Amino acid sequence: SSKPRYIETRTDGPVGFIELNRPEVLNALNRVMVAEILASMEEFDRNDTIKVIVLSGKGRCFAAGADIDEMAEADSVEMELLNQFTDWDRLSWIKKPIIGAVHGFALGGAFELALCCDLLFAAEDAEFGFPEVLLGIMPGAGGTVRLTKLAGKTKAMEWLFTGKRILAKEARDFGIVNQLFAKEALMEETARYAHQLAKMPPLSVRYIKESVLKAVDASIYEGMQFERKNFSLLFSSADQKEGMRAFMEKRKANFKGR
Ligand code: CAA
Repeated sequence: SSKPRYIETRTDGPVGFIELNRPEVLNALNRVMVAEILASMEEFDRNDTIKVIVLSGKGRCFAAGADIDEMAEADSVEMELLNQFTDWDRLSWIKKPIIGAVHGFALGGAFELALCCDLLFAAEDAEFGFPEVLLGIMPGAGGTVRLTKLAGKTKAMEWLFTGKRILAKEARDFGIVNQLFAKEALMEETARYAHQLAKMPPLSVRYIKESVLKAVDASIYEGMQFERKNFSLLFSSADQKEGMRAFMEKRKANFKGR
């Protein structure tokens, strides 16, 4: 595949890094960038050596949202026909865990992107928010849905009605963010965590991700049916045999992802 224009990717052993790289406009997400993010996520997802994906932004911040210049003159038929959020829908099919690392702003579409991550780490200067209302629009890539499911209706309404930014500590208190780090330590700590996560049995992690995402959206009964199938399936894996044998033999398991 040709070199992406608006992102940078690299790998470090089992961890694949995607960095938004359009710092002159605070990594404003244009459509090409979103397509590039998805293409590289899917590439990492297919790559057997990659176990964990890390997403972050270059420069002053994670990203200040969708590219406003690109949509300022659009009309609704154009937006409908562009159907640009199907790219975002593909994000939810990525099977490997995605860790978002946010410093500075994560606004609008970039907050939506952050909410698509499975784990979110943030620098103490991080600010999340949906300023769409201030532009006379509203979120369109899952913002009203994901924020409401995460933080509840009360705060979601307040934040979405006003565009008021959620500061790092508040984001942590509402469970939007897993952990905060000093700004200088964010990438190092995220990478360290990613490498630890990469050592976990990949099939377990894969099915846990699937089941948790299912649970967000399903009834308890439906979620549990789904969970049970995945639980049973893991008993066909070599890693289940290895994990349990290692326990009985009182040694460290050597997981293979099969
Ligand atoms: N789209 C396009 N360009 C953007 C941008 C965006 N979302 N955000 C910032 N930029 C550009 C600015 O225009 C500016 O470019 P110039 O130097 O050429 O003027 C450059 O990035 C630096 O930004 P500022 O000078 O504005 O930096 P600041 O520190 O003064 O302010 C900010 C930072 C508060 C984040 C401000 O840039 C801002 O409010 N940005 C827009 C945030 C926003 O509304 N995001 C939601 C977009 S809509 C959306 O995301 C909907 C969706 O889901 C599809």
